[in-house]
Amino acid sequence: MTDLVVYPSERPLVGSVPVPGDKSIAHRAILLSGLASGKSRVLGGALGEDNRATLGALRAMGIESTEEESGALIIEGKGLYGLRAPTSPIDCGNSGTTIRLLSGVLVAQRFASVLIGDASLSRRPMERVAKPLRLRGGRIEGRIDPKRVGEITPPLQIGPLPQPNVLGPLEYDMPVASAQVKSAILLSGLYADGSTYVREPIVSRDHTERMLHALGVPVSTMASMIQLDGPAFSGELPAFSIEVPGDISSACFLIVAAQIVPQSRVTIRRVGVNPTRTGLAELVRDMGGQLGIEARGDEMSEPVADLHAAASELRAGRLGGELVTRTIDEVPILCALAARAEGTTIIQDAAELRVKESDRIATMAGVLRAFGVECEERPDGLAIQGAPNRPLKAAVIESRDDHRIAMTAAILGLVADGPTRVREADCIATSFPRFVGTMRALGARIEVENAAGGA
Ligand code: S3P
Repeated sequence: MTDLVVYPSERPLVGSVPVPGDKSIAHRAILLSGLASGKSRVLGGALGEDNRATLGALRAMGIESTEEESGALIIEGKGLYGLRAPTSPIDCGNSGTTIRLLSGVLVAQRFASVLIGDASLSRRPMERVAKPLRLRGGRIEGRIDPKRVGEITPPLQIGPLPQPNVLGPLEYDMPVASAQVKSAILLSGLYADGSTYVREPIVSRDHTERMLHALGVPVSTMASMIQLDGPAFSGELPAFSIEVPGDISSACFLIVAAQIVPQSRVTIRRVGVNPTRTGLAELVRDMGGQLGIEARGDEMSEPVADLHAAASELRAGRLGGELVTRTIDEVPILCALAARAEGTTIIQDAAELRVKESDRIATMAGVLRAFGVECEERPDGLAIQGAPNRPLKAAVIESRDDHRIAMTAAILGLVADGPTRVREADCIATSFPRFVGTMRALGARIEVENAAGGA
């Protein structure tokens, strides 16, 4: 286990850096490569462990892949029906996207499979994905959650597909806005006899729809309604090549760091700016932050841009309603922004955060207080009293094995009054393996120590 020791910034953060390929897009690209016919190429910068879990799952089912020197993955898809029965449980690690998206594919197979994960994933709710898949004839069971009525958690036992050996059509109103659940339903629709209609309460990230559409699958979207026209689908996905845009969720840590460290100017190159993901960017601007967006074309229907962030005087903001879904993974780092903004920032309608990699409402309340920031924890969010004009109190923070908590604590450490220690920071590799190197390239002083205290 490693700790990070973050020193207060004595100079501005300056420079131009890339971020890893978008984790959500890369999951979809890897999975769909495995289901396509022929060799696909996925170039995604330094992919994190979550994406590697999806790749590992495909390998466990007989899909071969190699990595070029450039870092590009070459994945040899064997078509929609080319997966082989795994010989042991498939380990999805920490990755909710891996387990939920795979469920949609595995439920349609004639073999049985078991999906497992680490301690955090093993606590996360899975009935939301199992229910619609059962409704179209799939078999999927989990461990009954003793604390939440009607809820299941991993391990998931999936398949084999019962008679008549094909999934049926589905019309489903999703009770929770979740791109993972929506994607599992759409992926199962590739195997179904009949069409798939999904309606979400709020539009969530639409990477699956965009990628399927780019691959010629008849998917259409009207606001929060999505249709996959099963009878019009050819039954085959073509192999493809994608250069995955940078992950805006990773870029947000750098955007906020640039806002709060005085006189900083940071550019993040080639970032995916799909509007279902840009909630934090909008909030930064609402709160008085300087953030420029320079369009750089698109990649498999995903818009790409360079982002230019600069230190700013910030005022409190408000996150609630529809914007929460577009900011869902950025709430920890939004809390860091709020800690440096004048006034009280309110975060509401965000109860979903309690079932992420950690309970991010409770964890962030603890982190903020450790840094001496006043905040109130509420059932569906937080109220944060910003303190822009004095250094925060240096702190020792437990990551709780949540990558986004660890990175948020490291960013807050840049404006503290002494060295901050982030314990168990290995989890950062889940999404941003080169986080420390990237921060150092911008001028931050961060040291990596093993937990025993050595260098
Ligand atoms: C993701 C969807 C979101 C998000 C997660 C990635 C995806 O989860 O929090 O980090 O790639 O589809 P939910 O679907 O649970 O909201």
